[in-house]
Amino acid sequence: MSTFTIDSATSRATPTPVPGKRMTVPAIRARKAGGTSAEPLVMLTAYTMRTAQLLDPHCEMLLVGDSLGQVIYGLPSTVPVTLEMMCAHGAAVVRGSWHALVAVDMPFGSYEGSPEQAFASAARVMKETGCAAVKLEGGEAMAPTVEFLTRRGIPVIGHVGLTPQAVNVLGGYGARGKSEAEAAKIVGDAKAVADAGAFCVVVEGVIESIADAVTKAIGVPTIGIGASANCDGQVLVTEDMLGLFERTPRFVKRYADLASEIGAAAAAYRDEVRARAFPSAEQVYRAKP
Ligand code: KIV
Repeated sequence: MSTFTIDSATSRATPTPVPGKRMTVPAIRARKAGGTSAEPLVMLTAYTMRTAQLLDPHCEMLLVGDSLGQVIYGLPSTVPVTLEMMCAHGAAVVRGSWHALVAVDMPFGSYEGSPEQAFASAARVMKETGCAAVKLEGGEAMAPTVEFLTRRGIPVIGHVGLTPQAVNVLGGYGARGKSEAEAAKIVGDAKAVADAGAFCVVVEGVIESIADAVTKAIGVPTIGIGASANCDGQVLVTEDMLGLFERTPRFVKRYADLASEIGAAAAAYRDEVRARAFPSAEQVYRAKP
C-alpha cells in the first residue's frame, strides 16, 4: 500500500502525505486499558524521510532514537549526540510519515540539569520537528522532570533498565537486573516515571523476569528491547533488524540481509562501470530526430 503521492514533477524529496489520522498519545495509552494489552505495539527507529515512509504503515510508533549517533554518524556512543541532530532527523521522519506517532529522543545533556532545561529542550524538539512526544532516559531521578513536562503539554516516553546514555556510569551495555537490588530498582524506576505521567516506558536490556514484573507493575504500555515478549510492545533499531551491520546483539533478530544486498549491488555497478556496460543505451539521452 502506498501512503504517499510523490510529486515527480518536482522532486522525489518532497512527498505529500495522504491526509490521515495519526496515532495519538491517548490511543497508545488505551492499548493497555484494563491492565493488559491484547495486541502488542509495534515500534521501530527511523532517522530519515524515506525510511519513515517505508516503515510507517507497519508501526504504531516511530522512534527517532539517539542511536542515530552510532548508526548514522559513526559516533562511539550516544553521548555526543546533539539537539541539532535530533531536530534535523526528527523533522525528516515527521515529513515521511502520516500514520505512526513519532517520538524523538532527548539527547544526553539536554534535559538532566533541571525540569526547566528539559522543558526548553523538549519544546524546541516539538516545535522544530512536529513530533508528538519525546523520550528520555532514567527512572526515579527523572520522575519530577517527567511530571513537569507532561503537566505542561509534552508527552513523555520513559526509558529504564539499560540506559545507553549512562554508559560511562554503567561501564558497558550488558543486561541489567542480575542482582535482586538492581531488579527492584528497575521496577521502582518504571513505576516512578509511569506515576509521573509517562504514557509508555521503554524497557531495555533486562532479564525476562524483570520485563514481566515491570509490565505487571505499571498501567501504561511497556515497550521492550532485549526485554522478552512479555512487554506490551517491542522496538528495535531498524538498521539492526535489516541486517546492515555485521555484528548484532543477541536480542536482535535479522529480518533481512541488506548489507549483503548493498555490497552485491555496489560490486555489480563497479563491474559494469569498469566494463563500460553502464550506462547502456537505455540510460543515455539522445537528440530527438
Ligand atoms: O536510541 C534508540 O534507538 C533507543 C531504542 C534502542 C529504544 O532508545
